[in-house]
Amino acid sequence: SDQSAFDTDVWTLTRFIIETGRQAKGATGELTQLLTAMLTAIKAISSAVRKAGLAHLQGMAGSVNVTGDDVKKLDVLSNDLVINMLQASYSTCCMVSEENKELIVTPKDKRGKYVVCFDPLDGSSNIDCLASIGTIFAIYKRTSEGEPTEQDALQQGNSIVCAGYALYGSATLVALSTGAGLNFFMLDPAIGEFILIERNVRIKQKGKIYSLNEGYAKYFHPSINEYLKHKKHPEDGGSPYGARYVGSMVSDVHRTITYGGIFMYPANEKSPKGKLRLLYECNPIAFLMEQAGGLATTGTQRILDVQPETLHQRVPFVVGSPDDVNEYLSFVKKFS
Ligand code: AHM
Ligand code: MG
Repeated sequence: SDQSAFDTDVWTLTRFIIETGRQAKGATGELTQLLTAMLTAIKAISSAVRKAGLAHLQGMAGSVNVTGDDVKKLDVLSNDLVINMLQASYSTCCMVSEENKELIVTPKDKRGKYVVCFDPLDGSSNIDCLASIGTIFAIYKRTSEGEPTEQDALQQGNSIVCAGYALYGSATLVALSTGAGLNFFMLDPAIGEFILIERNVRIKQKGKIYSLNEGYAKYFHPSINEYLKHKKHPEDGGSPYGARYVGSMVSDVHRTITYGGIFMYPANEKSPKGKLRLLYECNPIAFLMEQAGGLATTGTQRILDVQPETLHQRVPFVVGSPDDVNEYLSFVKKFS
């Protein structure tokens, strides 16, 4: 049949990265290599998340795992994939992963100039129930010479060169920015490529949805409970906000960027710094959110300005549409 509706000149993510690299002065192609490796890992994780090839492992219904081997847990598999693909790309000197306590130092013969902080599979509580999960990463240039150390990874979010997330939702999507706006790419499994679907994404000035784990209200600071009350019972007689919370940050953040509104994981009495990790959860998301015209704050400081002190440190995290985040901040001020 006629294939005239077939786009023969699509913008794939690979093409987008090559073009961005060509436009950058003094580019060596190393970032292109790194991102290509990261995308390979993301495609493999996406396929594992969707259980591709499961029949080979499980046999037919009713039978047990035919190989008898333990199937690697998804989060471990994802971590191994990212580490191995990135090290093989000759573009990293060290990495920080949510899954590794220590700095991951690239073997000497495979080193390059970038530092990558990542969460290979975020939303662990959603894995077994098949709700959406994601991968998050931030890329920095190393600032020192010699043996890589933790110091190379303890850079402010302000120095991010490129960041992104992959969302394994009803489709697989990658959000990526190299500092010139935010772009969305959708995986077309038929050709195994990410296709540019939205250039220069902008978040709404103000949304209609708030998102947090409100079950912790008992432990929240009064400023937060006061803000939430205002969302549910607006004093000006306006309509209350809708509530949405997947419990997978990539999912909750992607919805926030797409529809507008606010996502928060504030501090509480039980977790005085909140739960989310600065290096590989908050910083990359804050960078992407700002690229889309949104805001990202701890409540007292812009996220990208926070000077990291340890690899796995946590920070309170509030992101979203500028008017919504500013309104939240006005409640913080009222109570300080
Ligand atoms: P994880 O890295 O163990 O998956 O934890 C991070 C996740 C985020 O995706 C999500 O925003 C948050 O934990 C949900 O936490 P809670 O269950 O306390 O609401
Ligand atoms: Mg995580």
